[in-house]
Amino acid sequence: MTEPATKQQWQQRARELRYPTGHFLDGEQIAGGAERFSVINPATGTPLCEVAAGSATDIDRAVASGLRAFKSGIWRRMAPRDRMAVLQRMAQLIQANADRFALLDCLCMGKPVNDMLNIDVPSAAQNFSYFGELCDKIEGAVTSTAADALHYILREPLGVVGCIVPWNYPLLMSAWKVAPALAAGNSVLLKPAEQSPLSGLLLAQLFVEAGGPPGVFNVVNGLGPTAGAALALHNDVAKIAFTGSTTIGKQMLVYAGQSNMKRVSLECGGKSPQIFLADLEDIDRAVTYAINGIYGNMGEVCNAGSRLLIDKRIAGDFIERFVKQGRNAYRAGDPLDPATNLGPLVTGKQQKRVLDYIERGKREGAKLEFGGDTPDLPGTYVNPTLYSGVTSKMTIAREEIFGPVASAIEVDGLEEALAVANDSIYGLAASVWTRDLRKAHTAVRDLEAGVIWVNCFDHGDMTQPFGGYKQSGQGRDKCLECLLGYTQTKSAWIHLGS
Ligand code: NAI
Ligand code: MG
Repeated sequence: MTEPATKQQWQQRARELRYPTGHFLDGEQIAGGAERFSVINPATGTPLCEVAAGSATDIDRAVASGLRAFKSGIWRRMAPRDRMAVLQRMAQLIQANADRFALLDCLCMGKPVNDMLNIDVPSAAQNFSYFGELCDKIEGAVTSTAADALHYILREPLGVVGCIVPWNYPLLMSAWKVAPALAAGNSVLLKPAEQSPLSGLLLAQLFVEAGGPPGVFNVVNGLGPTAGAALALHNDVAKIAFTGSTTIGKQMLVYAGQSNMKRVSLECGGKSPQIFLADLEDIDRAVTYAINGIYGNMGEVCNAGSRLLIDKRIAGDFIERFVKQGRNAYRAGDPLDPATNLGPLVTGKQQKRVLDYIERGKREGAKLEFGGDTPDLPGTYVNPTLYSGVTSKMTIAREEIFGPVASAIEVDGLEEALAVANDSIYGLAASVWTRDLRKAHTAVRDLEAGVIWVNCFDHGDMTQPFGGYKQSGQGRDKCLECLLGYTQTKSAWIHLGS
């Protein structure tokens, strides 16, 4: 075992790090045109690099490359176990490049380097191994038909899949889309978020190093309204797999209607409730989960447990413990320091957005228990914040803040908790904490959310469908159902009579 790297070693590695800043086309890193956009390191506020801003022409070229590869059959008609082997090697290469990935995402969007090593990188590798294993388990069917016919159903890949991903888990969200799309035999064109454009280029490089054919996995960097829109409007793109804001998610559906009726899967915002009933078993354990559920990844998490719905019988005690434990659990610092668990928010714009919501909470009469301010550091940090006395009508209880801000709402029993929990346009995830089996299952039945946790939060594995009800989106990531979403069915009716 080698010693884990120190802060100084990570800082040194960051200074020495070299990486491409263009696009990835036909198996190669390419520089891209003169049009560039700046990436700022949010921990320091200083420019990190200038990256190629892809145009509609760049998208066109990359879609054509993906379509050529698709039509050639080099990937979709490869023996499934050979495709599997490529994706398994890719999983190993992701893990072998853990430090590089950790640095790239850390420098672009401020994620603590330890979170990258413990969460994002292993989870990304796991997506490739899980979906890799499924390559030869995609099955069609033969149905019961009359004696004069044989009917079978095939599952085929779609074609070129456009993946438009956000900046909060740059590598991992790319893996969530790219791995199943590739496993099903599609070509992929990845458009990373403009805040975090570097790790996608390395991911595509590793696909080729793992033995993936050139052209099957291309990357075009660029801004949402130009490169992203050109991709989503493209007539030769068969599906858009999107994670990001609800506003842009809806726009994806418009683009599909304005172009070729492409399939769209959406994983958008959330305002996930955690319900803490009076009979819960272990209040300290529940408080710990509540704290990690909202302050982990700086609260920049689609399923962040941002609404704490606490039974009034335990609310005082719960909040007191939350304040005691929560105000110091996450410490702002250099994300390159392995001891740091709170990095800056992704941009100055995001910091302002979160601080504006914090102001709004104050104005609308919520009680600030702690936080609400920024630490004395150069980056775009916001301190962990807790509001109590929040009502379901307040803006901070309704809108996705995407920062380390928790809102505690007192409720009177399960029925009221469920009503408040469901009083949201969102429905990504929810949890309920109780010892009562009947209440737990009632909550599972009645909560309008795609992912429900009982006596835990954020647990799961690759078999778990991840995605939302209502305006949190449609379609699921991870899981077998997700893989099938990158296929289409073909019916073959064979006449056997005369
Ligand atoms: P966004 O939805 O604008 O960006 C996500 C992706 O969509 C990026 O790759 C971006 O380039 C692309 N995009 C943006 N506009 C586009 C367009 N017109 N056509 C095609 N592609 C486009 O999210 P943004 O602005 O970065 O963050 C705003 C808020 O969205 C956050 O504060 C948060 O509330 C929410 N959000 C939710 C995420 C989630 O995981 N569900 C992830 C990121 C943001
Ligand atoms: Mg946006």
